[in-house]
Amino acid sequence: MCSAAPLAPPRPRGGARGGAEKLTQVDINGLSVKVWEKWREEEHVWPAAKILADYLISPATRPPYCGSADLIVEAGAGTGLLSLILGAAAEESAAQSQSAPAWPPVVATDCDRAALRNMKRNVQENGLGRRVSIQEWNWLFPTLPPWSAEVDLLVASDIIYDNTTAYLHLSRHLAEILSRHHRNTQGAASQEQEVSTQGGTSHHGPIALMLLQVRNGGQGYTGSSVEAFMSDLRARKLQVECLKLPPSCTRAYQEDFPDLHERLHLLQISAPAHTPVDFKSSPGAYGRLDRTCLGDGMCDEEILAMWQQSDL
Ligand SMILES: C[S@@+](CC[C@H](N)C(=O)[O-])C[C@H]1O[C@@H](n2cnc3c(N)ncnc32)[C@H](O)[C@@H]1O
Repeated sequence: MCSAAPLAPPRPRGGARGGAEKLTQVDINGLSVKVWEKWREEEHVWPAAKILADYLISPATRPPYCGSADLIVEAGAGTGLLSLILGAAAEESAAQSQSAPAWPPVVATDCDRAALRNMKRNVQENGLGRRVSIQEWNWLFPTLPPWSAEVDLLVASDIIYDNTTAYLHLSRHLAEILSRHHRNTQGAASQEQEVSTQGGTSHHGPIALMLLQVRNGGQGYTGSSVEAFMSDLRARKLQVECLKLPPSCTRAYQEDFPDLHERLHLLQISAPAHTPVDFKSSPGAYGRLDRTCLGDGMCDEEILAMWQQSDL
C-alpha cells in the first residue's frame, strides 16, 4: 500500500453540507449522463466513480464476467453515477445490433437517505428507471437484503476511506454474498460455472469489483482502512486480487490529484472454488456494533435496534 500526503482538494466529512447543487453532464466512453450533485461526501461525483465506470464499459478493460451477470449491485453509490453509466450502456446495447454487449439491471444502494433521494432524481433525470433501481443498504445492518441471493457482480467506488470500522461489516456481508455457491451446493458439484479471473485463480459465483482510493492526512481519513479491509477479507478466506489499472484511466485527474494513480486500488474479490469462506464471524468480534461506525445520515437508533433483535 502506498503512503500518501494530504489529498487535494479538501473533501467534506460525511454529512457536512455545503455549496449549491448543480446538474453536471458526465461523458464516459461515448455515453453521457446528467447528475445532480453538490459538495457533500455522499452527493458528489468522486473520480473513482468515473474511472471505474470507464473501466467497466471500455472494451479494452471490461472484465469478461460482466457479460454473464444477471444482476449488478452498486454499494455506497453516492450520486449513482457508476450505476447510471451502466444503465446507459444497457440502453445503448438494447438499441443497437445484437453484437453490442448486453448489460443487466443495476441496483444502486447507499445508507444515506438524502443521497438515495438524490439518486432517484438522477435516475429520473436520465430516463433510466427501467435499468437502474435504488435501494437502501447500510453495511451496518446485521442481515443482508433480498437482492443478495441474486447478485452476480457487486461494484463500488471510493467507499472505504475514513477511520471508522464500518468496512468490517462490509467484509462480513461480502463473504456471505460471494460464497453463495458454497451454501447453495453444500459440498455437491456446483451448478454455477467455474470462472478464471485476471490473476488466474478460479472461483465460483458472484464477484465484487471495487476501486478504492487511499487517503489520509487529517479530516478523519486514513489509508490504513483500505489495508485493514483487505486483511479482513483475506482472513475470511476470500480471494483478493489487485488488478492493474491502465495509467490512461487517471490522466484526466493529473492536475487536481497528481498521485491519484498510486492511491487507487482496483480489487477483484471472490470466493475460492474449494475453500470454505468465513461469513459467520460477526464484527461482534471487534466489539459488536461499534458506535464510531455510525455517522450523520445513518439511522443510528434503527440500526442499533436491528442488532438488538438479531441473534448475531
Ligand atoms: C466518497 S462517497 C463515494 C460515492 C460514490 N461511490 C462515488 O465514487 O462517487 C462514499 C459513499 O459511501 C457511502 N457509505 C459510507 N458508509 C456506508 C455504509 N455503512 N453503508 C452504505 N453506504 C455507506 C456514503 O453514503 C457515500 O455515498
